[in-house]
Amino acid sequence: MSLDPLLFTPGPVMLPREVLQELGKQVVSHRSSDFRRIFSETVEFLKTVFKTENEIIVLTASGTGGVEASLINLLKPGERIIVPVYGVFSSRAAETASRLGINVISQKMELPEEDKILQLIEENEAEALFMVYNETSPGITVRKLAKIVEEAKSKGLLVIVDAISILGGDLLETDKWGIDVVVAGSQKCLMSPPGLSFVSLSAEAIKKMGNVPRRTFYFDFQRYLKFLKERRETPYTPAVNILYATRTALKIIVEKIGLDNWINLHKDRGMILYESLEDLKMDPIIPLGYRSYTVISVAPPNGLKADELLDLLRRKYSIYCAGGLENWKGKILRFGNMGYITRRTLLTLISALSDLLSSRGININLSRALNRVSALKDVEWQSI
Ligand SMILES: Cc1ncc(COP(=O)(O)O)c(C=O)c1O
Repeated sequence: MSLDPLLFTPGPVMLPREVLQELGKQVVSHRSSDFRRIFSETVEFLKTVFKTENEIIVLTASGTGGVEASLINLLKPGERIIVPVYGVFSSRAAETASRLGINVISQKMELPEEDKILQLIEENEAEALFMVYNETSPGITVRKLAKIVEEAKSKGLLVIVDAISILGGDLLETDKWGIDVVVAGSQKCLMSPPGLSFVSLSAEAIKKMGNVPRRTFYFDFQRYLKFLKERRETPYTPAVNILYATRTALKIIVEKIGLDNWINLHKDRGMILYESLEDLKMDPIIPLGYRSYTVISVAPPNGLKADELLDLLRRKYSIYCAGGLENWKGKILRFGNMGYITRRTLLTLISALSDLLSSRGININLSRALNRVSALKDVEWQSI
């Protein structure tokens, strides 16, 4: 026997039973009316979560597929895209664009400072801007995204936003902010299994796409749009049961919990996590103003190794958290604060950490940390 794992990884995430059960249901044909109903409902829920009237394409691919598909559909080889780089995923986006023959104008920066990004937009001629809204490595949110999008749009750029690790867990206004393309994934704040990505496309993006040579068959957005509009279907066989599960998760988020409550819960939980981890002598590594609420990154207490703590959490308690990537490798712990994380699970995490830390002589304030978590206004999961 083994303990059921508790996931505090920044995706994939734990799922409630109601969502998991969808995976065991009989499959339906993706050319049936049953499928069309499920698919249409899912797309409508997604529109609510994306806060958009735009079309949303559903791909059977993880987030990376959604990013690559957006770049290949929206930019011709040789066109220019500005990609500020402040972590692994923005760096990957730049690399993806470059491999597709797109001319990448990128600049590395510690933090996505508004001034630096606006200067990059100001000083370079380009067709598009790519922004990672929430850099999962190491847990940075671009708080000034709305302003950056506004500036880029005023210069006539097409704006593509990777919102994979934040959509549903923080404020994102696709239409109000004027974002042309938003990419999200199923396995993060949407409380769904991994396997799907979602891409919203503005009228301007759809128009631009029409002038780009069609270089991909599986990811051809024009085919996805045609099937979506004319048949409420996908052009190829989708991951039907993951779609079932996502539909159920979105229904819970939108109809039972309420999108604003869901977003606020992530924020409250995120703040509580930062504070209670500080009580355990683990300080945030990202300055205020850039800190993510969906990915909480902290340094281990003095004298302890991050990887050793992560290993102990896993072996002793079957609790899974993440470490740092690239420059942060071995130096930090990252806790995903996404989706179905309950007060009970948080209390378990804090208690398990306190056990490991106090046995190593770290002077922690456990009761304060636990009090903070107890005060969380959680969803009434029993009544959902
Ligand atoms: C910001 C961001 N972009 C892209 C990805 C890649 O997504 P996936 O692993 O679903 O392909 C991730 C995954 O964590 C991410 O956090």
